[in-house]
Amino acid sequence: MPSVEVRPGIYWIGVNDHTTDLFEGLWPITQEGVSYNSYLIVDQKNAIVDLAKSLKVDEYLAQMNEHIPLESLNYIILNHMEPDHTGVLRILRKLAPQAVILCSPQAKDMVSAFYGISEGVQVVRDGERIDLGEKKLVFYHVPMVHWPETMVTYEEKTRVLFSCDAFGGYGALQGAIFEDECPQFDFYIRESLRYFANIVAKYSAMVLKAIEKLSPLSISIVAPSHGLIWRKNPGRIIELYRKWSQYAESGGEVGVTLLYGSMYGNTEAMVDALAQGIAESGVQVDMFDARRVHPSYILASLWEKKGVVVGAPTYEAGLFPPVAQVLDLALRKNVKHKRAMYLGSFGWSGGARREVERFARELGWEMTVAFEFHGGGTKEDRQRIQQLGREFGASLRG
Ligand SMILES: Cc1cc2nc3c(=O)[nH]c(=O)nc-3n(C[C@H](O)[C@H](O)[C@H](O)COP(=O)(O)O)c2cc1C
Ligand SMILES: [Fe+2]
Ligand SMILES: [Fe+2]
Repeated sequence: MPSVEVRPGIYWIGVNDHTTDLFEGLWPITQEGVSYNSYLIVDQKNAIVDLAKSLKVDEYLAQMNEHIPLESLNYIILNHMEPDHTGVLRILRKLAPQAVILCSPQAKDMVSAFYGISEGVQVVRDGERIDLGEKKLVFYHVPMVHWPETMVTYEEKTRVLFSCDAFGGYGALQGAIFEDECPQFDFYIRESLRYFANIVAKYSAMVLKAIEKLSPLSISIVAPSHGLIWRKNPGRIIELYRKWSQYAESGGEVGVTLLYGSMYGNTEAMVDALAQGIAESGVQVDMFDARRVHPSYILASLWEKKGVVVGAPTYEAGLFPPVAQVLDLALRKNVKHKRAMYLGSFGWSGGARREVERFARELGWEMTVAFEFHGGGTKEDRQRIQQLGREFGASLRG
């Protein structure tokens, strides 16, 4: 993809990734893709803010070369050491050995550990300023958004915030790189939430701290290192990140994530009745078949919605494994403060319910109802379950 001018003297020179299947080796992006946005600042001194994953390296270097010869690159600014933003560091160091690497104190050790580079690395303090000529950069440390060494870079003249992982999202760029030019806006919002839930939600408190810390800045453009660049309404993505971070304590908004699995359809039939009841209460239900939908997508809904229904039969005295896997991930990701329900079929002595209740205790979820039924259940069970759905929905609204 050709480079794009963001502001005079500031160029997007990223890598648009359509071929990686799993981001972080874990989160599916086969359909969606992702971008590694890197920014070249051309001034009396030239700087590059964040690099890219080691992919399409020729194209990446050619984008840089459109604007400056590599020998005249002065600074390589590493906001974040994760290899999706530093993968090309070693090769860039070979081609532009004069360029000084600027990073936080914690990142300095990592540059050495990950890439064996310790010469020409200069630490920048929180709030430190460097002069490029017309443009001036200020660095703000924002630990744990997403790693302990993470910082953001702010350019004072153009008021561009290079925010790295913060305010980013999945979704390769599809021609348009600015949010106001982008016809697939809803797609990017959805993929920003999924990215947030998968990658940064666990550190919501640190995201809120970072937003607070950056709030005195006048920001004309939010230029993250994944996804769209926000120039018409940069506050939009900041406010979304603030809202999503607050869900860590509030548990989210009115709505239900219904995640279920079923071997022979008994649980599934009752799950449908329950969903009907919830829908009758006027509350939105997002249903996920945990056998087939990757937890990455379920996690996004779980993060956003206050209500959770777990529908799963007993399997070998415990919870049906695909459903257990999602709850395990929710635990690892600190998905807390939910109002929950369990529903499932058993054949002889059960066990799924016990396991869900254990997960709920560990997660701090309020279990309102746990309804186990034998085999296919009765007509009365079904009516009761539909009624439980109405009550559950009403309790979320009320
Ligand atoms: C592989 C397998 C293991 C099972 N293990 C148990 C068990 O340990 N305890 C139990 O009460 N029922 C067990 N069952 C019975 C199921 O819980 C029961 O058939 C239930 O109705 C399945 O619900 P479903 O149609 O939603 O899959 C097992 C069934 C299968 C196929
Ligand atoms: Fe990261
Ligand atoms: Fe990243």
